[in-house]
Amino acid sequence: MRALTWHGKHDVRMETVDDPEIINPRDAIIKVTSTAICGSDLHLYDGFIPTMKSGDILGHEFMGEVVETGSGSTLKKGQRVVVPFVIACGSCYFCTKHQYSCCDNSNPADNQDISEFGYGNRMSGLFGYSHMTGGYAGGQAEYVRVPYSDVGPIVVPDGVDDDKVLFLSDILPTGWMAAENADIEPGDTVAVWGCGPVGLFAIQSAMLMGANRIIAIDHFPHRLELAAKFGAETINFNDVKVYDALMEMTGGIGPDAVIDSVGLEAHGLFVDNVVDQIKVSTFLGTDRIHALRQVILACRKGGRVSVPAVYGGFVDKFPMGAFMEKGLTMKTGQTHVQHYTPALLNAIIEDKIDTTFLISHRLPLENAPDGYKLFHDHQNETTKIVLKPGMEKIQVEMPA
Ligand SMILES: NC(=O)c1ccc[n+]([C@@H]2O[C@H](COP(=O)([O-])OP(=O)(O)OC[C@H]3O[C@@H](n4cnc5c(N)ncnc54)[C@H](O)[C@@H]3O)[C@@H](O)[C@H]2O)c1
Ligand SMILES: [Zn+2]
Ligand SMILES: [Zn+2]
Repeated sequence: MRALTWHGKHDVRMETVDDPEIINPRDAIIKVTSTAICGSDLHLYDGFIPTMKSGDILGHEFMGEVVETGSGSTLKKGQRVVVPFVIACGSCYFCTKHQYSCCDNSNPADNQDISEFGYGNRMSGLFGYSHMTGGYAGGQAEYVRVPYSDVGPIVVPDGVDDDKVLFLSDILPTGWMAAENADIEPGDTVAVWGCGPVGLFAIQSAMLMGANRIIAIDHFPHRLELAAKFGAETINFNDVKVYDALMEMTGGIGPDAVIDSVGLEAHGLFVDNVVDQIKVSTFLGTDRIHALRQVILACRKGGRVSVPAVYGGFVDKFPMGAFMEKGLTMKTGQTHVQHYTPALLNAIIEDKIDTTFLISHRLPLENAPDGYKLFHDHQNETTKIVLKPGMEKIQVEMPA
């Protein structure tokens, strides 16, 4: 089959690889009909995530048709399913608490001791996301093996387009959990850093949860326009000082809840960001945490901090004093996707949530390397790329 493989920093290729096979009884094989590129994939593309191996198949946002099932799968051939990026057994201590991204059974990789060493506990398995999370082949491919197929995939009714439901695999539940983790109360002012797919779905979710005002922060005008369409007020961090603007907009107290949907590759020529950048490039640090520092400093006293954004290592100049002295709470984590998909699928079917506004590009899977370049180099114009297996390669124009 054809698949998108990782070979190093900014080097991803379409290659012909072996078809996946059923290995365990609970497995299913999915013929991928749609797959997307995620902001998390950019962290792999930029070489920030350790334990990648040359030839690894990427992709953790995908859906398709069931073409083969093991004896323990509850799926049926021909069903259309969306597959959560988190691989979870459904019956361990964590899964029974619906903390699926903490599953203790889904990461059998030899490298699991690296996450145990770095994080104190083993991480769960994720599709297409390094050997620290199981080394599973991802879904930017024609076919993919889905373990625990009786737990993860959600069956999509006929007549509902791929474009409407594909993002149930990750970014829609991630935006929803980000808003839920912000413990939004009616009347709240919520500030969201980063208007990528996760930030935009967090904004939409926070509105549905009763936020009174949402303030969206980014530097890409088009992404800020999308945030404004959902009723957010916007701050372009190239034009004004974010902290000062937020204080002015909130009567000097700061937002009630803050959401960091930026992550370890923060943009911007800020002193702390430049220092982080130097440390990362000289292997003295791992993450650029400018946005995380800013959310904590800007949040009102007694407020709530939600961090859906990905961080990987040991961070420097974390404002622990401000966090403690202001009495903040923080919630974070890889999304417990399986917990959210049934209700969110219903919300999509009932037209309460729109997901298709986000898609800026639909490309053949064969053009996936162009897609990575577009999403990486042209974030203003490129909000989300959906890849279609089976389509012939086309010529992709890069924006000027
Ligand atoms: N927790 C999870 O399970 C989960 C799931 C999906 C994605 N993520 C993570 O969420 C984050 C966002 O994902 P995405 O797909 O929206 O990515 P993205 O790269 O498309 O969006 C990030 C946005 O942040 C903006 N940004 C950069 N620096 C900023 C700053 N200093 N202040 C304000 N905005 C800034 C960028 O301009 C960009 O629009 C990533 O770290 C991704 O890995 C986490
Ligand atoms: Zn993702
Ligand atoms: Zn489990």
